[in-house]
Amino acid sequence: MKPLCSGELIHLVSEKGRHYALTLKAGDRFQYSGEWLAHDDLIGQEEGRWIRLSGGTRLLVIRPTLSEYLMKMPRGAQILYPKDIALILMKADIFPGARVLEAGIGSGALTLALLRAIGEKGQLFSYELREDFAAQALKNIRRYLGDAAPLTIRRQDVSAGIVERELDRVVLDLPEPWRVVDPMLEALRSGGILLTFLPTVPQVERLVAALQGSGSFDFIETTECLERPWQIEGRSVRPQLRMVAHSGFLTVARRISRTSEDGGIRIQEEEKRNEDQTA
Ligand SMILES: C[S@@+](CC[C@H](N)C(=O)[O-])C[C@H]1O[C@@H](n2cnc3c(N)ncnc32)[C@H](O)[C@@H]1O
Repeated sequence: MKPLCSGELIHLVSEKGRHYALTLKAGDRFQYSGEWLAHDDLIGQEEGRWIRLSGGTRLLVIRPTLSEYLMKMPRGAQILYPKDIALILMKADIFPGARVLEAGIGSGALTLALLRAIGEKGQLFSYELREDFAAQALKNIRRYLGDAAPLTIRRQDVSAGIVERELDRVVLDLPEPWRVVDPMLEALRSGGILLTFLPTVPQVERLVAALQGSGSFDFIETTECLERPWQIEGRSVRPQLRMVAHSGFLTVARRISRTSEDGGIRIQEEEKRNEDQTA
């Protein structure tokens, strides 16, 4: 068992499933509807236990999962939902050690998941237009991961140019990704993957037209993820009455090398010439 310690972020969860985030600090008190709990009563204990507040209310003590943390953390911009982030990690094939560019950083929800997936040996470059969003995102990231994340935040318009080269992956959650196609041609390595998240169909159409027009992307696919939670209570087993019906579309594309295509054609032509000469 790893005991809870002072300075650690935890969630207290009510019997109805509401989460309350707090950072443990020796001597502090957690206040809840006129009741309270001394942080000292939690420090040194293990997570996953029900505890009682001064008035008898029961709360579960846990270290939050990443998706629980994302849903509770303070937001500047609208975050990507865990259901979309889960699919992004797989569709963009984010792997340990990858060099990834993300824009914009927003509240840092996707950033946290990308950092976890690339690990200590990866590199993440996050471009963001707004100072206030970048600052909030950094606070959110530090609170969950500490200071050691391999993250470089660039406070600039990603469509105005990308500093990095030989990127493995580019993940865009911003309104006009077609403006990033040209800068990406230099920055994303051949065989690399681009993934964009867009809320509306006209945006997707414009992006796909730009990717096709560039002649440098192939295997362009668009998909969306609908998550339908179910209620399972005794004999009431059915989909829940409410769900998030729409968040956005994921479009994935592979960066292809024009040089290798030309090379391929040259080889085929040479082979044909050789065949003709032999005949
Ligand atoms: C929807 S938010 C991103 C949310 C983020 N993915 C998250 O999960 O928390 C979009 C962000 O893109 C930023 N943005 C928009 N256009 C940009 C650009 N051209 N370059 C850099 N950042 C941009 C906005 O300021 C905003 O913070």
